[in-house]
Amino acid sequence: MLTKKFTCVKVDQQKDGITWVTFNRPEKRNAMSPTFHREMMEIMTALQVDPDTKIVILTGAGTAYSAGQDLKEYFRETDGNPGAKAEAGANSRWRSDLLWMYDKPTIAMINGYCVGGAFTHCICSDFAIAADDAVFSLSEVNWGILPGGMVSKMMSDTVSPRDAMYYACSGRPFNGKEAAAMRLVTFSVPKRSLKRETLKLARELLQKNQNVLRGTKHAIRATQNMHWNAAADYLVAKQAEIKMRDAARGHDSYQEGIRQFIDEKTYKPVFSPYIGAGEGKSGAVKKSAKKRSKKSAKKATRKK
Ligand code: ACO
Repeated sequence: MLTKKFTCVKVDQQKDGITWVTFNRPEKRNAMSPTFHREMMEIMTALQVDPDTKIVILTGAGTAYSAGQDLKEYFRETDGNPGAKAEAGANSRWRSDLLWMYDKPTIAMINGYCVGGAFTHCICSDFAIAADDAVFSLSEVNWGILPGGMVSKMMSDTVSPRDAMYYACSGRPFNGKEAAAMRLVTFSVPKRSLKRETLKLARELLQKNQNVLRGTKHAIRATQNMHWNAAADYLVAKQAEIKMRDAARGHDSYQEGIRQFIDEKTYKPVFSPYIGAGEGKSGAVKKSAKKRSKKSAKKATRKK
């Protein structure tokens, strides 16, 4: 449990393992200052090993998700002070190096303005859910720099080259629906359902075996730029790591998942994870659970 208080960020931990990290400089539209980055580096490092945190949701207080780097504190006030600039730059890598291969699932809930450097943690979060009316902008071209800190590279890797070029060079703002259409975010929803839909996804992820989820996330990220043969080897090794991590807590998701489907007939993998996956628990399945699972599988089949 992270109990420390921070000046630029609010951390709220729910009992179910969902931790909310809220950028909390609404009066500055959550622009990212050196202090903000120092705090975020500390928070994200701590949450990665915090046993009470299974999923992290990033969002912003007020009307902005994040107005990007703080033009005054991050840029102007560190000019002429290479030490301070280097420190701010190093701490700002919580958004890229740390988030990209984070051990736990992360969701960016984009509630409003998402500008410049904020694209980094939008893209490096595993999932991004935007309000339909959120405002995205690569504003760099409008005030005199290119989208640096890897934003240009991330944009051209994530959206089509046409969209990357158009929005980076024109600086034109676009909304959450447009961000979803170009696959910059996972999906967008009306503002009134933003929190509900974000929690729905988070709770769904909580039902999965967390070791399998971690391995799957890493597999999708790491194989992106790998040669075919290297990727094949990586995936075999990663599956072995899942087995080892499961074994450390007396579990075997692979055996358990097959057993419950083939022998117990208590769930259908197409519609849900095996019973106990979220807690990483195996063992006898109660008859009531068996009945419940058969019912929900039937229901899901009928819906189709
Ligand atoms: N850096 C520093 N201060 C900022 C930033 C920022 N990125 N964004 C907003 N603020 C400050 C404003 O200076 C203002 O401060 P003040 O009250 O002391 O005058 C306060 O936040 C509120 O800003 P407003 O502009 O009044 O808010 P409004 O809601 O009208 O507009 C908007 C919001 C559109 C986000 C506007 O503030 C804006 O264009 N901000 C700049 C965004 C930007 O270009 N960021 C840099 C991206 S590039 C990069 O990250 C590398």
